[in-house]
Amino acid sequence: MSRMKSEPTDLSVQDLLDAATNICGKSVELRLIDAIQPIRFYVLATSIYHLFDTGIFDILCQNGESSIKNLGKEKGLEQDKLSGFLKYLKNEGIVDEREGCFSLTAKGKSLSNFRGWYTMLIGGYGQTFLQVGEKLKKGAGWATRDATKVGIGSCEISHYDAIPLTRDLIAEIPKSCRRLLDLGCGNGLYLVDFCKAFPEIEAWGVEPDEGSYRAATELVRQVGLQNRIKLTRNSAVEFLHSDFNYQPDFIVMGFVLHEILNQEGEAGIVNFLLQITKRFPDIYIIVIEVDLKIDAPTIMQHGLSLAYYNPYYLLHYFTNQRLETQLFWEQLFAKCQLDLIAKKTTDIQVDSTGLEIGYLLKRKE
Ligand SMILES: C[S@@+](CC[C@H](N)C(=O)[O-])C[C@H]1O[C@@H](n2cnc3c(N)ncnc32)[C@H](O)[C@@H]1O
Repeated sequence: MSRMKSEPTDLSVQDLLDAATNICGKSVELRLIDAIQPIRFYVLATSIYHLFDTGIFDILCQNGESSIKNLGKEKGLEQDKLSGFLKYLKNEGIVDEREGCFSLTAKGKSLSNFRGWYTMLIGGYGQTFLQVGEKLKKGAGWATRDATKVGIGSCEISHYDAIPLTRDLIAEIPKSCRRLLDLGCGNGLYLVDFCKAFPEIEAWGVEPDEGSYRAATELVRQVGLQNRIKLTRNSAVEFLHSDFNYQPDFIVMGFVLHEILNQEGEAGIVNFLLQITKRFPDIYIIVIEVDLKIDAPTIMQHGLSLAYYNPYYLLHYFTNQRLETQLFWEQLFAKCQLDLIAKKTTDIQVDSTGLEIGYLLKRKE
């Protein structure tokens, strides 16, 4: 106490004011740091997407470490820019640098399973989010997206949630199914997963987007399943009206009906589903959709809702797609004379929100 009283101080009035601000509330600097964290994460998310998309992530996984020179050579990248990119990621704890060589940190490696979320939300919809302001204006139309990255990213995500969910629904089909038709198959990952898991299955995938169709063709070739998987580039609706020689036992539409709903309207989609069961009366139909619950306050505070579903809902309002509620889909299925054989959601270890719903449907007897 006596020290405080007797020692002279050279604090200025401003120092004292700043100190008082610090005591009474956060300093401007602390508030600034808080306020711009979203910018930090925006750039970080974009950079992680590029880390995957450029192939640098895969090379670092394969080789353990690599110099800028070797990485640059292998991928045809400019060394100066690459150096800046990797040093940025080093400061974010994604890569390590030792004697001029870069490697992934444990945090960097742990991103590996989650590539799909970056492919879809940043590669596919990054441009969409930047157009939100402009597209809010009356008559501004839809924002753009990279449909190929959306299809590929969606399939990469589905590997963890919708594909296991589809398998659970297949287990409810009371007969053995051998011929699968996947409408809106993206990069064909569903088809490949199913053909690997069920050696007796043959499959046909239909995908309108040229890039996704090409990616699917390449994937099927890579895994050597060309003799069991056929692919067609077309929309589901046109394909159904075309002259193809295939009698599927079950059809999968993973996150596709809400695309067709906005393209064709409600009457169009009813007609589409009726056409399916008219052409294939005994068909089992598996539909995976996300329940529109952007207004449900409790579920929207779930960690996965804030990290994924909230941006996911947002982008649908701005692109040519229409998410709907469970009630909407169930009423629509009833209109199409479809019985709900089973309804399930994702494994809670992967997604405990219950927002992703899988339906197994069959024409009413
Ligand atoms: C969100 S992705 C889903 C991909 C995959 N089915 C999955 O479950 O991850 C939607 C896919 O539907 C395709 N699509 C959009 N309109 C379609 C249509 N009219 N007919 C068939 N597919 C369509 C898109 O090109 C895209 O590949």
